[in-house]
Amino acid sequence: MKTVIEDMRAGVREDGIRRAGEIIKKGGLVAFPTETVYGLGANALDPEASGKIYAAKGRPSDNPLIVHIADWEALEGIVKEVPEAARKLGEAFWPGPLTMIFRRKETVPLTTTGGLETVAVRMPDHDIALALIRAGGGYIAAPSANTSGRPSPTRASHVQEDMDGIIDMIIDGGDVGIGLESTIVDFTEDSPVILRPGYLNQEMIAQVIGEVRMDQALIDEHSPRPPKAPGMKYRHYAPKAQLYIVEGEEEAVRRKIDDLASQEESRGRKAGILAAEESVPFYRHGILKVIGSREDELSISRHLFAILREFDAMEVQVIYSEAFYTPRMGQAIMNRLLKAAGHQIIKT
Ligand code: TXA
Ligand code: MG
Repeated sequence: MKTVIEDMRAGVREDGIRRAGEIIKKGGLVAFPTETVYGLGANALDPEASGKIYAAKGRPSDNPLIVHIADWEALEGIVKEVPEAARKLGEAFWPGPLTMIFRRKETVPLTTTGGLETVAVRMPDHDIALALIRAGGGYIAAPSANTSGRPSPTRASHVQEDMDGIIDMIIDGGDVGIGLESTIVDFTEDSPVILRPGYLNQEMIAQVIGEVRMDQALIDEHSPRPPKAPGMKYRHYAPKAQLYIVEGEEEAVRRKIDDLASQEESRGRKAGILAAEESVPFYRHGILKVIGSREDELSISRHLFAILREFDAMEVQVIYSEAFYTPRMGQAIMNRLLKAAGHQIIKT
């Protein structure tokens, strides 16, 4: 299959959106930008179409997809009820990096929900995504547009790396703004639960709906209960090289990472270092990639997945990363980084 690239880096182009919408309506696959990461879209109400997503990604069929909508009216068509707290949260943050879980109506096929009686819904804050959802019939199922197990794509070339020749179209909307997947809040339990941290943190959500807890499996890596979001149990976002997170006091961390990289180099191995801009002058060894500034959390979230892909392309044998427990998005950034590292932490 030839994968068509629609260039919309300068903004929405109606002719391209029309073509993309036709592909979706005919049951094909279109990758598109959102404010979080690129999504791999198909008609969410067509089991055959959404089934193709699992095949294209190599995704386990029990890992449900998020249904993307462009307006509130669409929500009524696919969920049994909208709890008051969910409505408030949606009013505060939709369109935006928020996914909410509801009880599904039968209109949503089980292929889309990974066999579950619940459905995840999100209204993305991106002109291209919203235009595509409208042109494609109103309901687009879309996981991140990476091959299962690889870091999520934050620019069209990442999607191309994984999906070229496999899907019908990629809409290039340039680099995304946030770079980490949406915050997921489950409204199907007795009280709201965060299943995946994202740009919206626990405090921001609690300010709107009152108390909200974190899924225990997110806090405790050895939790006896698996995470409720099936996708959170996989070691994904994984680079090819083993990644280690080095934690501790700032100066000690820099010294430790530089030592470790020096040891690797003396054995003739390539070591990658993932560090904040503020640490650049301290490293003498290794292949340094600067993720962003600790003063600008979005610069860190936005570059994380791209850097993991860059290290893959450079074929480093090992990666050492600083930790990024930044005040607002630290929880989300470290959730992804710890997964990428398979929870390998070196303490100084
Ligand atoms: O920012 C995002 O959310 C991006 C963009 C494209 O919108 N999408 C995304 O999708 O990250 P994906 O498939 O990579 O991650 C969806 C997560 C998975 O961990 C999945 O298991 C969980 O949401 N999920 C989906 N439906 C669910 C449900 N009904 N109950 C619990 N977890 C669910
Ligand atoms: Mg994903």
